[in-house]
Amino acid sequence: MPTTKRPKGPTRSAPAKAKPEQSDPPVAIYPGSFDPITNGHIDIIRRALRVFPRVTVAVAYNPNKDAAMFTPAERVDMIRQALADVGDRIVADSFTGLLVDYAERIGAQVLIRGLRAVSDFEYEFQMTMMNRHLKPKIETVFMMAGEQYFYTSSRLVKEVATFGGDVRNLVPEFVMDRFAERIARKAREKKKA
Ligand code: PNS
Repeated sequence: MPTTKRPKGPTRSAPAKAKPEQSDPPVAIYPGSFDPITNGHIDIIRRALRVFPRVTVAVAYNPNKDAAMFTPAERVDMIRQALADVGDRIVADSFTGLLVDYAERIGAQVLIRGLRAVSDFEYEFQMTMMNRHLKPKIETVFMMAGEQYFYTSSRLVKEVATFGGDVRNLVPEFVMDRFAERIARKAREKKKA
C-alpha cells in the first residue's frame, strides 16, 4: 500500500489559536447596610477577594428613612478599619438611591451577596430578580458564609449588644467598643431628657 509521505521541508505549524479577548477584570460591589460590619461580612469579603481582584464594599443608606445605629460615614470607617490589612484591594464607599444605578456609576458588573441559611434565599432571590429587571447586564454572585456565621446578622448582633449580651467573635473587637460607646451615649441622652 502506498503511504502518503509528508512533503519535505519546514513543517507547517498549526494555525495560531485565536487569543482570548483581553478584557479588564470585572468590577465587583459587595453592597449592604453594614450597620455595623460583622465577622460574617468580613468572611464574605475575604472570600470575594479570592475571586475578584478588587471589591467595593458599598454602604446603602436612605437619608429620609434610616433607623441605623451608625451613620453611613461611621459604617464606612468601620469597614476600612476591619479590612485595613487588605490595602487598596478594598474600597469602602456609601451610596443612596438604587444599587444598580450606583453600580453603573462606578462601572461595576457584579454584585456580591452572602448567603447563610436557606431562609436568606427568598429575600435574595427577589432582590436579584428586581436588580436584573432594572439592569439585565449586572450579574449577582452568591457566596456561602462560613458555617460559624450562619446565625450572625447586624440586626441580631445590635440587639444582643444593646441588651448587654456577649457578641465576642461575631464582630471585630473595635466594633464592640463602638457599641459600648453608643449604648453609653444613649443612656446619657435618656438621663438628660
Ligand atoms: O444588608 P442588607 O440590608 O441585606 O442589604 C440590602 C441592600 C442594601 C443591598 C438593599 O436594600 C439595596 O440594594 N438597597 C439600595 C436600594 C435599592 O436598590 N433597592 C432595590 C433593591 S432590589
